[in-house]
Amino acid sequence: MITVNGKEAPISPAPAHTTVLDFLRERGLTGTKEGCAEGECGACSVLVARPGVDKPTDWVAVNACLVPVAALDGQEVVTSEGLATPGAPGTPAALHPVQREMAARGGSQCGYCTPGFVCSMAAEYYRPDRCPHPTSGTETETGIETDSGTDSEHGPNGFDLHALSGNLCRCTGYRPIRDAAFAVGAPTEDDPLAQRREQAPPAPVATAYVQGDSAFLRRSSLAETLRLLRERPDAVVVAGSTDWGVEVNIRSRRAGCVVAVDRLPELRELRVEPDAIEIGAALTLTEIERRLDGRVPLLAELFPQFASRLIRNGATLGGNLGTGSPIGDSPPALLALDASVVLAGADGEREVPLSDYFTGYRQSVRRSGELIRAVRVPLPLAPVVAFHKIAKRRFDDISSVAVAFALDVEDGIVRTARIGLGGVAATPIRALATEAALEGRPWTAETVGAVAPVLRDEGTPMDDHRASAAYRSAMLGQSLLKLYARTTEAVSS
Ligand code: FES
Ligand code: FES
Repeated sequence: MITVNGKEAPISPAPAHTTVLDFLRERGLTGTKEGCAEGECGACSVLVARPGVDKPTDWVAVNACLVPVAALDGQEVVTSEGLATPGAPGTPAALHPVQREMAARGGSQCGYCTPGFVCSMAAEYYRPDRCPHPTSGTETETGIETDSGTDSEHGPNGFDLHALSGNLCRCTGYRPIRDAAFAVGAPTEDDPLAQRREQAPPAPVATAYVQGDSAFLRRSSLAETLRLLRERPDAVVVAGSTDWGVEVNIRSRRAGCVVAVDRLPELRELRVEPDAIEIGAALTLTEIERRLDGRVPLLAELFPQFASRLIRNGATLGGNLGTGSPIGDSPPALLALDASVVLAGADGEREVPLSDYFTGYRQSVRRSGELIRAVRVPLPLAPVVAFHKIAKRRFDDISSVAVAFALDVEDGIVRTARIGLGGVAATPIRALATEAALEGRPWTAETVGAVAPVLRDEGTPMDDHRASAAYRSAMLGQSLLKLYARTTEAVSS
């Protein structure tokens, strides 16, 4: 059972692979649109009640095209149809403030993308820590002036435009949409969705949804889940389904058994210990970002480049490491941080340095029946860090090459260097030769000039549709020069 716009809706008899998008549209909630079916356009965005960071509940926007509907068993969903306030019989509904601003400022033409935009916009509207920008503009009778005192990515109302980074519009153009986003005010006291944030979200429920020869299963604890994985070694393990959802929709893959781990409490802790930060494998990237709040600067630099906000609201570190993709964006950063992976199995736990975790293309030391429980980042952190993602678009794209640096430079000498690379080998790798060439040498233009060719030669990059091998190698070398330029700029400014 799911609560959709305040009303309970049974999941059955939808097939187990049915997405939230198809489920909603089947029920007549056709505001939720399919554009790409792979998490790139946001036409399918809906709001889900999730555990909050600053309030008991956050309204979180997710891609309904990627999430299996059974994953929301017992949960609450709001679609674009549920945002407006129904009118008295015979009178039209009152538009939600984000819908009103989109209409008033010309943010919609054909309207195909609009329900997705308003859901993403509503999630940001209700973000508890959204607050006016320090240099905010002034209120007018029609809202807030959008051209005074803002930076290009934040409105005077605190609206972070990255909230819309997963939404595409093909006909309106983004200026009026931005105007609408920067014009919304704060929720009123009697706003039901704002009030809803004060109560806890629905607790996760154990789910055994079986249709024909397919099952979607969720257990309540890690121990039960590990037992289940021992019984069903064929199971596909999902957290946010941002990867599996694409396989289902685009490659028509079907699994006999899907096991959800995203709400397991043992995988959702974030602990700061004296010698390490332990990050639960099933925390979403958005949750990690908000909970760490810049405490790990390299991750703070990584997250905005990782994917859209819609994807980060579902994606997890466990998923990014579990798929073992050589172009996942978190492994280079975690390699540079010297992180390790905590693997839980029926026989107990073991901790594996991430540098020993990947064994081949999409292969790792994780055994059948094991789950990634957490990622451990040792403290103290190296002070000189950077994450360089080379891709065709600035945001929401797949890396051609990713380079993460974590250097400890003391008295002008590189004491330790950790460099993680993605996109230049069958697995994410450490740039070991470059690290060795840097350590013990002065952090100077001369050193960097001498070592950049070493970095250029790391890995075994390939030619493919994203980039040539030569380009990838060239970008590695450039990356070190860029890091040096940035650090010396920082020192001299
Ligand atoms: Fe494009 Fe879901 S349909 S992101
Ligand atoms: Fe037509 Fe956005 S209004 S795609």
